[in-house]
Amino acid sequence: MAEVIVFESPEAAASHVAALLADQIENDPATVLGLATGSTPGRVYEGLARLVRDRSIAVDAVSGFALDEYVGLEPGHPESYRAVIDREVVRPLGLDPDRIHLPPVADGGSPESCRVFEDRIARAGGVDVQILGIGTDGHIGFNEPGSSLGSRTRLKTLTARTRRDNARFFASEDEVPVHCVTQGIGTILEARHLVLLAFGEAKAAAVAAAVEGPLSASVPGSAIQLHPRVTVVLDDAAAAELRHREYYDFAWANRPR
Ligand code: F6R
Repeated sequence: MAEVIVFESPEAAASHVAALLADQIENDPATVLGLATGSTPGRVYEGLARLVRDRSIAVDAVSGFALDEYVGLEPGHPESYRAVIDREVVRPLGLDPDRIHLPPVADGGSPESCRVFEDRIARAGGVDVQILGIGTDGHIGFNEPGSSLGSRTRLKTLTARTRRDNARFFASEDEVPVHCVTQGIGTILEARHLVLLAFGEAKAAAVAAAVEGPLSASVPGSAIQLHPRVTVVLDDAAAAELRHREYYDFAWANRPR
């Protein structure tokens, strides 16, 4: 079962995950991070950058693989995930940009370039900690409902709901790309530790379906139930529809130390 930890605020939740990542990098300077973008992990990266600075943690051997990237934005577009990762992760943390990889979109996400991306993850030794957000439609990465639970990195079409949700980053909904290249659910499940974050009431239904609902390709986030090491980190609002909330709080308060 996933460990579900509910904090009173997104800030407290993000500090917990930032500390977890800082400890991970301190223990293993060659940590391989799986990087989510979107608005949820922003505070985690800010907190981690602070801890890296305050604790003088060496990050030159850290590498990272982003979960997904839009297809069709011009290179350098500020909302391309390459630009977002550079702005929110690489520069604040002082990571080596050559060690940070995004799913291949230059050739439209050909099967061959997706295979090369997957091989690169394997050659890096696999992802140690995969940070995940979740879409209101239950997606992880950009694996939209119906994605195979065994899927690998590939070209995908975004749902209307995801494009609507992400329109806030663009001038209009029409500017949100229709296609993306995303790590597959099978790819994500190979990471050694999954840390799924969700904040706000808009995520409550997707979180409950992913954590407690039946395992189903219709809710790609439910694939986390297959993984032996998952930490779900929520604020109160995102936890509002969990049936076993009381138990999660009890288990966290009584965690073995
Ligand atoms: C982004 C990603 C997506 C987001 C999800 C939630 O790299 O993989 O699954 O995590 O769409 O987005 P936010 O955090 O913006 O609500």
